[in-house]
Amino acid sequence: MWNTKLEHLQPYPFERLRELHKDCQHDGELAHIPLSLGEPKHPPPDFVVRALADAQALTTQLGIYPATKGSDDLRLAISQWLGGRFGIGIDPATQVLPVYGTREALFSVAQALLSGKPGSLVGMPNPFYQIYEGAALLAGARPLYIANVETNDYHADFSAVTADQWQAVEMVYICSPGNPTGQIMSAGDMQALIELAYEHDFIVVSDECYSELYYDDDNVPCSLLSVAEQVAKAHNKRPFESCLSFHSLSKRSNLPGLRSGFVAGDSELMQRYLSYRTYHGCAMSAHHQAASTLAWRDEAHVVANRNLYREKFAAVSQVLQPYYDLRQPEGGFYHWLRTPIDDLRFSQLLLQQQHVTVMPGTFLGRVSDDDTASNPGQGHVRVAWVAGLDDCLLAAQRLADFAATL
Ligand SMILES: Cc1ncc(COP(=O)(O)O)c(C=O)c1O
Repeated sequence: MWNTKLEHLQPYPFERLRELHKDCQHDGELAHIPLSLGEPKHPPPDFVVRALADAQALTTQLGIYPATKGSDDLRLAISQWLGGRFGIGIDPATQVLPVYGTREALFSVAQALLSGKPGSLVGMPNPFYQIYEGAALLAGARPLYIANVETNDYHADFSAVTADQWQAVEMVYICSPGNPTGQIMSAGDMQALIELAYEHDFIVVSDECYSELYYDDDNVPCSLLSVAEQVAKAHNKRPFESCLSFHSLSKRSNLPGLRSGFVAGDSELMQRYLSYRTYHGCAMSAHHQAASTLAWRDEAHVVANRNLYREKFAAVSQVLQPYYDLRQPEGGFYHWLRTPIDDLRFSQLLLQQQHVTVMPGTFLGRVSDDDTASNPGQGHVRVAWVAGLDDCLLAAQRLADFAATL
């Protein structure tokens, strides 16, 4: 016997990309520029690196079995950050947990909180960050894909979900700013979703790992929790009822290798999630927690990082504008670029001719089981502007040269 749910998992997009590209390698002189993976390449804050390399502190920290709940200091730093950034009052004792990056937590929260009842559904945008789907499938639920396409300004269209489907939904993933579309979900849309969650008794899981990368100071991403705080009060619910928000140091602080983030929200859900995590054995090590605490307490490096992305987007957009139907993201670090030819072919030819790798949208979207619509990722590629400015400018020029040949 084995876990047959594993058979439902789709190959990960990077596996599919390797397969797609295996017979179209570049045989010219150009150096490779990878823009397919959302791995930040800006330098991490040096004070975090120094803290991790403090041998004296490490000698003590490595001799400690850390608590799953995390240190008081880390939970306090996180709640203070949430208070400063989103104006929310979070109880560090009951409403916050450190996690090993949002990926791990977005996955495990489904294992911890879903019922496993046959027929249960988990809503998610489509195209989407692939962990949501795997999490739902391995927890015994079916994914309910909610298209976020151009006709709805690349926002997930919750109005397409039927009343019967809502009855079966146990959890909905949202992502704001979105990967891959870069759209910010408005407070009004979040409020409507929270009210649906109260009505149909499901949990809203909000992936906010790109919340600090935004391009317009008049359109700053809000948190699900800042909306939930008000909506819960208005409906006489417990604070943040049915809502969990997920954050990370990976994009905010250029620390994808640290594996550090947090989950915050509804204390009842957090209590259940904590008991799951205690058995799962995923406590964050003490040196890791100490370094994370420092990162959450500093904003200067976050502002500098955001400015670097703004500068880069302005520079590459100028190069791409004449050649592509360019839509600027509201947040995150991706262009979700419409391709003048099939996206799979586009990525193959781009690699072959210009030695630049991008992610075809087809690999990030799904065709719904009960729908005849095409894959909503089709006709787009995701371009991750994570490298340094010079490499990004070089890649933008190659994308422009490539488009000129089509
Ligand atoms: C939408 C989204 N969520 C979550 C993650 C996971 O990030 P991490 O686990 O490093 O916090 C990523 C990483 O690329 C992402 O794009």
